[in-house]
Amino acid sequence: MTTDVGTTSNSAQASYPPSAAFTATANAGPELQAAADADRLAFWAEQAGRLDWDRDFDEVLDWSGAPVAKWFVGGKLNVAYNCVDRHVEAGHGDQVAIHWVGEPGDSRDITYAQLKDEVCRAANTLTALGLKAGDRVAIYMPMVPEAIVSMLACARLGITHSVVFAGFSAAALRSRVDDAEAKLVITTDGQWRRGQAAPLKFAVDEALGSGADRAPSVEHVLVVRRTGLDVEWTTGRDLWWDETVGTASPEHACESFDAEHPLFLLYTSGTTGKPKGIVHTSGGYLTQAAYTHHYVFDHKPGQDVYWCTADIGWVTGHTYIVYGPLANRATQIVYEGTPNTPDEHRHFEVIEKYKVSIYYIAPTLVRTFMKWGRDIPDAHDLSSLRLLGSVGEPINPEAWRWYRGVIGGGRCPIVDTWWQTETGGIMLSPLPGITATKPGSAMAPLPGISCKVVDDNARDVPHGEQGYLVLDQPWPGMLRGIWGDMDRYRETYWSRYAEQGWYFAGDGAKYDEDGDVWVLGRVDDVMNVSGHRISTSEVESALVGHPAVAEAAVVGASDETTGQGIVAFVILLEGVENTGDTLISELKAQVSTDISPIAKPREITVVPELPKTRSGKIMRRLLRDVAEGRELGDTSTLVDPAVVEALRAKR
Ligand code: WTA
Repeated sequence: MTTDVGTTSNSAQASYPPSAAFTATANAGPELQAAADADRLAFWAEQAGRLDWDRDFDEVLDWSGAPVAKWFVGGKLNVAYNCVDRHVEAGHGDQVAIHWVGEPGDSRDITYAQLKDEVCRAANTLTALGLKAGDRVAIYMPMVPEAIVSMLACARLGITHSVVFAGFSAAALRSRVDDAEAKLVITTDGQWRRGQAAPLKFAVDEALGSGADRAPSVEHVLVVRRTGLDVEWTTGRDLWWDETVGTASPEHACESFDAEHPLFLLYTSGTTGKPKGIVHTSGGYLTQAAYTHHYVFDHKPGQDVYWCTADIGWVTGHTYIVYGPLANRATQIVYEGTPNTPDEHRHFEVIEKYKVSIYYIAPTLVRTFMKWGRDIPDAHDLSSLRLLGSVGEPINPEAWRWYRGVIGGGRCPIVDTWWQTETGGIMLSPLPGITATKPGSAMAPLPGISCKVVDDNARDVPHGEQGYLVLDQPWPGMLRGIWGDMDRYRETYWSRYAEQGWYFAGDGAKYDEDGDVWVLGRVDDVMNVSGHRISTSEVESALVGHPAVAEAAVVGASDETTGQGIVAFVILLEGVENTGDTLISELKAQVSTDISPIAKPREITVVPELPKTRSGKIMRRLLRDVAEGRELGDTSTLVDPAVVEALRAKR
């Protein structure tokens, strides 16, 4: 049985129309949707015109090999040329591409002309090492400019990069290097983390092994000096960046590659243990990256200072730090460290100093800022901000309103962007200047994108009821497969609605009474209590709506009577007194009145911290283990494993 428990009564403003001033200069106008509706493929062909093509494409989409798409068939381009050289050729060589801010306080401003020289030097070095188009290179680096240069150098040569988040273990790196058969690993001696220099090259040595255990594909390791930490050296294999790239020629003529040439692999976790190497190609991916970055962020080259705080180890860093912004000639901030190093003022100091106008972060960071208190942002001049973005998980209305009011001064539109590693770029989002936004809703698919919310039988769900989010039309930035495992590709994404040929996103969603889409989180995060479907994020949102609560995580724990019972973990705001049972009953009442008595948590535990992955996602699986008193599964992707022990002790 599916019962709607989704509509939350809320006295606060339900919808925020765009301001006339924003609309007046917005990149997007109503004609955008009209054009996409009139002829979707012609619309995408027009968006492809944002790029410089060395050979025009003959056909926009070839879907005859579904579910493997070919976009812009016959077209040829060079991705790095589009991100760098063409801006220099157009006279913008002196524009800053990257204001890089190091964690210890050092900084570098890199212009497009300088970026071009660096990318060319790196491309010449990779060529000298014998690398060719089609080879794979693993990039295991912190947020230093050379990481971006490395990605672009690969793109320039048609080499497929596989960026591995520098917070991953040596074992995780090894399995990704082996799976992709990477010939080269690019890394740094170490990385700055919370004021400490931590070794990184060391993990590469461990990952690549020696003797019989040696990673068979790897020929070289290229090492950037960042921290000055001592490293071990394997002669013949290891090379310093400054001694190779640093002395290489900045002249490099690039060749063009097919629109479907593989640009990168990015490993992401699935439901089973083995990470999936998501494959993205060139022309369609870059088109969607540039299109979405232009309209969703209302980006104005030469005027805006853009800051996406993701790490390049995640897809958000690929599409909204490297490819989208650089294709659109952005001036952007790249920050190396954590938001509270040296203290909690860091982000706001950067915004103030560089006059950041577009700020794109994850809801978990908004809630962290809330926990630290508004005095911190209030101590800074944030008036340069004009647009705020959110990505990675559903943003609860409470956090949305705080983000809008405290960070955005009540004047900045918020774009809540739904997408996935697999989709390559943003799929659902409000359009700033057009959409009246609702706190917590990604609203609608972008022009050119199509989605549905359906039940198990592929029928549209009635408004208000929960269903599954599916993408019923191919899109340019879509994944082209899972590296080395096309069966898994078909099985994971295309088997559920095989008859209809729809992509199954793995997320629950609902339409509200206006037909706007609310993404409710992964389907495995949707609980089933006495046959009622309740989203973990809705309960979390209700809990965070209580004035004492900073952050909440909710899981469905198995229950003999009701199937699942709701178990909540909450962090209190700084300075709030824990009144024990009184507080717990208040919180339960809050959920009852906000959603429904059936959504009332069975248990609520006040905890000091929540277990999070290094990408900032709450590890609900671990919380479920704790809630059900089980042995803990794999904790290797946790930022701080001690958090789990603290949770257990609390119960
Ligand atoms: C979730 C990150 C709700 C969703 C770009 C998706 C979101 C998964 C949103 C992909 C959003 C991302 N609202 N949920 N605005 N954005 N998600 O691959 O569950 O790291 O399936 O890509 O994050 O995570 P991934």
